[in-house]
Amino acid sequence: MTTFVHLSDLHLNPDFEAQGEPDTSINLKNAIEMIQALEPAPEFVVVSGDLTDTSNEADTTLVKELLDTLAMPVLVTLGNHDIREVFYKTFVPDVTPSSEPYNYSQIFDGVHIITLDSSIPEKLSGELSAHQLDWLSEMLDLSPDIPKVIVIHHPPTSVAIPVLSSILLKNAEEFQERLENKNVAAILCGHVHYNQMSFLGDIPCFISSGLHSHFDITFKDGLRVMDNPSFNLCSIVNGKIAVQTISLPSSGEVLREISNETMQATIDKVENT
Ligand SMILES: [Fe+2]
Repeated sequence: MTTFVHLSDLHLNPDFEAQGEPDTSINLKNAIEMIQALEPAPEFVVVSGDLTDTSNEADTTLVKELLDTLAMPVLVTLGNHDIREVFYKTFVPDVTPSSEPYNYSQIFDGVHIITLDSSIPEKLSGELSAHQLDWLSEMLDLSPDIPKVIVIHHPPTSVAIPVLSSILLKNAEEFQERLENKNVAAILCGHVHYNQMSFLGDIPCFISSGLHSHFDITFKDGLRVMDNPSFNLCSIVNGKIAVQTISLPSSGEVLREISNETMQATIDKVENT
């Protein structure tokens, strides 16, 4: 059995508290404390994007420093809140800061992790380039007998909050074609801030609500944003995945509500400019 942790949507921003919202750096510190106490210790941690809220250098440095306190390797990918140049400078200092997507592959004992950067600079939706899809195929053929887990920010399946359906992974069909019959045990995502399990073809796809906020799917008039952070503890057994959601200390309070009209207008403005 291989056990690991899936974190998502850290949105680290110590200034949130001054804005009347929970300090997401505290949420990350709480998550790290809980992960360090898990027995048996997870072998590694994956993070499916939105590392900070504004992607400024100070917050990106802080999130790196906090993740570095974990006793196990941490593999990260980027979300729509992350700026690649800042990410490279902080997380991959050996590489010249670049606007190119950051993709990564590592084979652990019992599982092969492939992270894909689905972010599109300055957009909310996500996409994988032809080059990324070809790289993915290359990685999938590296170790055919080892089960694979794909970590990607934007979900490739439908979601339960209609107003978010236009900001998912645009080319999910092409992504699915590359994954078929490649021993993929799971796809792990974030982005839409609630917990969901669905299938892409016959591959289970888990969205983690993440460490920032939780969108209440029972609220139909828009986005109801709640203080309810969590992370997922994952295990691979005989090539299959099991996922358990672990909640962090939180108030559970409603932080704010955004109408569908306001949300759609924001999405249209960002996506169409
Ligand atoms: Fe997010």
